[in-house]
Parts: sequence; structure tokens; C-alpha cells
Amino acid sequence: MRLDKFVSTASNLSRRDASRAIAGGHVSVFGKTVRDGAFHVDEGDDITLDGKPLLYSRFLYLMMNKPSGYITATEDARPGERVVSDLLPPELARRVFPVGRLDRDTTGLLIFTDDGAAAHRALSPKRHVEKTYRFTCSPPLTDEMIRALEAGVDIGEKNSAGEPILTARARMSGNTITITEGKFHQIKRMFHAVGSEITSLARVSFAGIELDGALAPGEWRYLSPEEITLFTGE
Ligand code: URA
Repeated sequence: MRLDKFVSTASNLSRRDASRAIAGGHVSVFGKTVRDGAFHVDEGDDITLDGKPLLYSRFLYLMMNKPSGYITATEDARPGERVVSDLLPPELARRVFPVGRLDRDTTGLLIFTDDGAAAHRALSPKRHVEKTYRFTCSPPLTDEMIRALEAGVDIGEKNSAGEPILTARARMSGNTITITEGKFHQIKRMFHAVGSEITSLARVSFAGIELDGALAPGEWRYLSPEEITLFTGE
């Protein structure tokens, strides 16, 4: 591929800014400065921008610590509504989409990618991908409520014969709950079903990827190679 395509993909610079960086002598290929954007390179080549190695990946994967007050949708935002993609640089926001949804008042781990197949796998109910949420609720859960949440509860879902479908088994541990489904408002509906109400909800892990504690609400970073493997399942 062309060097300007490699640099723009690996660095998230626009194609024009990547060309400028190359022409300005900021890019080296195998240690040698190359100023020609059309120069031919391959995926695994040793290419640096201002001395920092660039890793070419066909797809982008990143995590955000979603703040409260932002909606996850990309299209159906009403005017004036704050959307999670507003928190990404515009270049990136145009490329990636959020994997699944968190409610406006839910905070925590939200993954973005442009890898549609991996996102589809991560969200597929058949794959039982684990999502862990930290919660506060009122009234506090009794042992009986905890047992019911773990065993599966009726949140109003029905099969084609009109019979209730219970939620899949969940794991409770202190103030966290781990589920393998992703139905609309699922945790809130589960707590409601046992007689408690969620008062705060934060996702702390998804598919084995933990929310990075160094990210303040609204901040994001790229996934590490290990996290990408957890996410893509490959
Ligand atoms: N369950 C909910 O009720 N809300 C979320 O945002 C995520 C899971």
C-alpha cells in the first residue's frame, strides 16, 4: 500500500495531514526518512512517525469511560442531545461506532470499533459474552433477591408461544453483577423484577476487558493488542 495510507490509518491523521507529515520528513521507513507519500510499504514494515512506531491495523478498537448524561446512539440523537461520539476526535468519530449501548445515566466501559464482524460476534446472544456492572440499588438486596437474580428473573420477555423467557444465569459478587445477555435496560429491569431499583450503574468489564482506571469520565484510549484479542475472540 502507499505510505500515506499506512500513516493515516495507523496514526488516525487525515490523509492530508499524513501527507504533510511525510513531506515534512517526520516519517521513517526502516530507519530512513521517506518524503514520498506514494512510496510502497507493507503491513508489517517498521515505520515511525516522529520516532514513534506506527502499528498498522485494518481496524480500530478503543475504549471509553462513558460519562453520565451522554446517549450511545449515533443516529437518533435529538438536537442538543449529547452523544458519546462527541467525545472522540472528529476523524475517529466518523470511522468507529459504539459496540452495544449503555443508558444515558450508565457510566463506564464502552468499546468503539470499525470492525463490524467482531462487534457482531461480541453482541451475539449465542456467544454469551460476559459484561460486569457495578451497581448501587435501593432497597438493598436481600439474599433471596440475590438468589433470584442469579437464577434468572421474568423481565417481561416472551417466547413465540407467549410464555415468559427468564433472564440467563447471572453472577453476583458484592456490588457487581455479571450477565451474558444485553437486553434493553436489562439490569434495571432485573432489579425491578425482584423488588429493588438501580440507583447507579457502571460497566466495569466487557468480554474480559477491564475498564482502565486511569481513564477519567469522557476519556478514551486505544485497546492493547491483548485486549483486541479478547474482543475479537481471535
Ligand atoms: N443494563 C441497564 O439497565 N442499563 C445499561 O445501560 C446497561 C445494562
